[in-house]
Amino acid sequence: MSLSNHVSGQSTKATLSHLARYVEINNDIPKFTMPEQALSGQVAASIIRGELRLDGNPNLNLASFVTTEIDPECYDLMMENLNKNLVDTSQYVHSSEIQDRCVNILANLFHAPPTHDENKPGAVGTATVGSSEAIMLGGLALKWRWRAKQAAKQGKKLDEITTRCNLIFSAAVHVSVLKLCRYFDIDPRIIPLEHNRYTLDIDQVIAQCDENTCGVLAILGTTLTGEFEDIKRLNTALLKLKKEKELDIPIHVDGASGAMVAPFVFPDLEWDFRLEQVRSINTSGHKYGLVLPGLGWIIWRRTEDLPEDLIFHVNYLGVDEPTFNLNFSRTAANVIGQYYQFLRLGVEGYKRIMRSCVDNAKYLAASLASMSEGLFIVQSQNDQPSLPMVAFSLNPAKNLKFNETTLVHWLRERGWIIPAYTLAANAGDITVCRIVVRETFTRNIASILLEDIRLVLISLADHHGHQGLVESLEAARDDTHQHRRSNRHGQRVANFIQSNHEASTNHDDPEQVKKSGTKKKSGHHTMHVIC
Ligand SMILES: Cc1ncc(COP(=O)(O)O)c(C=O)c1O
Repeated sequence: MSLSNHVSGQSTKATLSHLARYVEINNDIPKFTMPEQALSGQVAASIIRGELRLDGNPNLNLASFVTTEIDPECYDLMMENLNKNLVDTSQYVHSSEIQDRCVNILANLFHAPPTHDENKPGAVGTATVGSSEAIMLGGLALKWRWRAKQAAKQGKKLDEITTRCNLIFSAAVHVSVLKLCRYFDIDPRIIPLEHNRYTLDIDQVIAQCDENTCGVLAILGTTLTGEFEDIKRLNTALLKLKKEKELDIPIHVDGASGAMVAPFVFPDLEWDFRLEQVRSINTSGHKYGLVLPGLGWIIWRRTEDLPEDLIFHVNYLGVDEPTFNLNFSRTAANVIGQYYQFLRLGVEGYKRIMRSCVDNAKYLAASLASMSEGLFIVQSQNDQPSLPMVAFSLNPAKNLKFNETTLVHWLRERGWIIPAYTLAANAGDITVCRIVVRETFTRNIASILLEDIRLVLISLADHHGHQGLVESLEAARDDTHQHRRSNRHGQRVANFIQSNHEASTNHDDPEQVKKSGTKKKSGHHTMHVIC
């Protein structure tokens, strides 16, 4: 969630326009203070619903990995259980049992080793609000384990260990990993990206490891390009380090998206508890877990990987409740939704959905790569095991007078929500557009999007005088994918660009502004949330 500012002064007088149909509203309804009188449910809901209609269409939001559509049966189940507090395990015994089953299903999916010794319990895990919370919990467990080891080694008490530990990861990490380090006093050791390498450099990781390294965080599906970091090679390198220098450094896998894709599409890829150094894995139930937000999961390889002194035992809800979460109360609805998806789809269903997402991403990547003789550079590695998403840039060799931000701005006019963002250091000079392929993004929708991209490009190329590009894009018209609205839309974009251009040109000349009364539009920069 973004931060919201307190509004004060004149602006607090802002009101919501009331609906004339409802005679019961005689006064304006204040925006930033609570209205004095109650409203009927119908009026309150109408006001809010009317405003929410102006939001983007979640299914056209190609910026996000987050699930936007579920079966009506799943929706009903979630709604029926929205009022259950998951933390209250004594009252909601069966919701709690369902969480246990989900943790077990995930532990098995991630190949948690079976345990034959009752005194050495096996995998353990919990539901979280999302991967961000799960990453915080995973990082805390790494820090606590490191501190306990240091205390034992130095013959000190835990609170006598005052040195800070460090966590190693690539600059491609999601912001939640940076938050973990800042909030919980862990030194981040960030391995930069380079041009043509947008994942972790394992040699650099090994060079950075020392006795204060509490772990390495590796990403199964980076937010930036969707690539899987090479966790198997990382594991081998860490095992060698353990043998040679007696440094036993665990891996936490951030599988926010990838941990629910890889088991179904790339079952032979070893990235999970099959690898000795992998001690914990997080995933987002609300991404390729196929549940509405907010749900995440974290699984530890063995109970001993989650230090006991991180777990609080509370009994004020009736029985002993062990909890390790950053928050306390939360609805059981998403966990129940997750269990529904596991039962409803089974392995076969998840395989079908994930494969079709990966295939559609490949189709999209290949189509973009072949558009107008190398107009785009596809930065994602869709021919390798990776997330079903396509990250692409305009080819700098084409010397275009427009950029990725302009392109996505105009696609937004057509309803498509696609972010354009820069990669991380040392590849921060590369801007990419990202299209996330989810279950609802069918091949037909992909072809409609490709056609809209072609039409927007024609308008932009025409406007900027790239005549050769216009011709090649016109020639690329694919009649098998003709859509009834195509040409009309192309004309609409062209008109809009022209009038926008006139408005901004006028603004440079104050006399023109006076004559036309037109104000320059602000730049095309749209803030996108990358999640
Ligand atoms: C790699 C990665 N890690 C963590 C997160 C945070 O996940 P959540 O939104 O579930 O908190 C994301 C979000 O997209 C992500 O892509």
